[in-house]
Amino acid sequence: MARKKDGKDLFEKYFHEEYQDRWPHLYHAMQADRQRYISITQDPELTYKALIGLTDHPAEGYHIDPASMEAVLALDIQKGDRVWDACAAPGGKALIILRILAGSGMLTVSDISSSRAHRLRRNLEQFGIYKNYEVNIGDMIEMQCPVFDKILLDAPCSSERHWIEKDMLDDWRVGRTRHLSVRQHALLCRAWDVLKPGGLLVYSTCSISKKENDGVIKQFLKKRNAVVKPSYHAEKSEYGTMILPDTHMGQGPIYFCVLEKPTI
Ligand SMILES: C[S@@+](CC[C@H](N)C(=O)[O-])C[C@H]1O[C@@H](n2cnc3c(N)ncnc32)[C@H](O)[C@@H]1O
Repeated sequence: MARKKDGKDLFEKYFHEEYQDRWPHLYHAMQADRQRYISITQDPELTYKALIGLTDHPAEGYHIDPASMEAVLALDIQKGDRVWDACAAPGGKALIILRILAGSGMLTVSDISSSRAHRLRRNLEQFGIYKNYEVNIGDMIEMQCPVFDKILLDAPCSSERHWIEKDMLDDWRVGRTRHLSVRQHALLCRAWDVLKPGGLLVYSTCSISKKENDGVIKQFLKKRNAVVKPSYHAEKSEYGTMILPDTHMGQGPIYFCVLEKPTI
């Protein structure tokens, strides 16, 4: 059994195998402080189109990584859509969805953690501007739901950059990413079941682990009939898009894949 202090070595070895020559650059970029944010303020004039241009780090507002916004934009939300942000706390992506809906349609947000869901509710109240949302606390797998036009599944993941920032790598284990990929697959199947035919689902994580990204989609496609929408971003993966900090001015990591439910 690995000793506690081996976690960092296991981490480096695991991702060196995945990313080969790129790994030292990527690891270095993940250790650097984030420089670029977009800031969602209480200004109702700040539409999501205005947000796209903002990449500085102003003091006020709710800050999110610009790469996270790409995952939301990939959902192609239209005015009037009924949207589910299934793993929504603390709410950065939900705030962008609300700006896109601009008071039309309906956003349902949910989170299994009651403390995080309370934080989510506070953030929506403070920065959401619009009120066309409902907050559900609980496991998304067991939630009674209507069908949705669009679903964002920003799944719980290994979040390696966070582990680096918090200096937690001594506790890292390969089993963690394997275990999470099984859970992510179950969450994706559940979300898919309540997506309307013709609707879009974005599966996203902030993990660099291929097992939690394309690996989950690969498993999913073995069981469900879904159309993988092509990625128009520079850095494509097998099924989706990967925005990594070494090639995107410190932004990310974020992975996302857009799935369309066939109408027949
Ligand atoms: C990556 S975070 C979401 C970040 C959020 N989308 C944002 O932009 O601020 C994943 C969230 O999923 C929640 N979660 C994990 N398992 C869940 C489940 N079974 N049902 C609902 N939420 C879940 C976690 O509590 C966590 O808040």
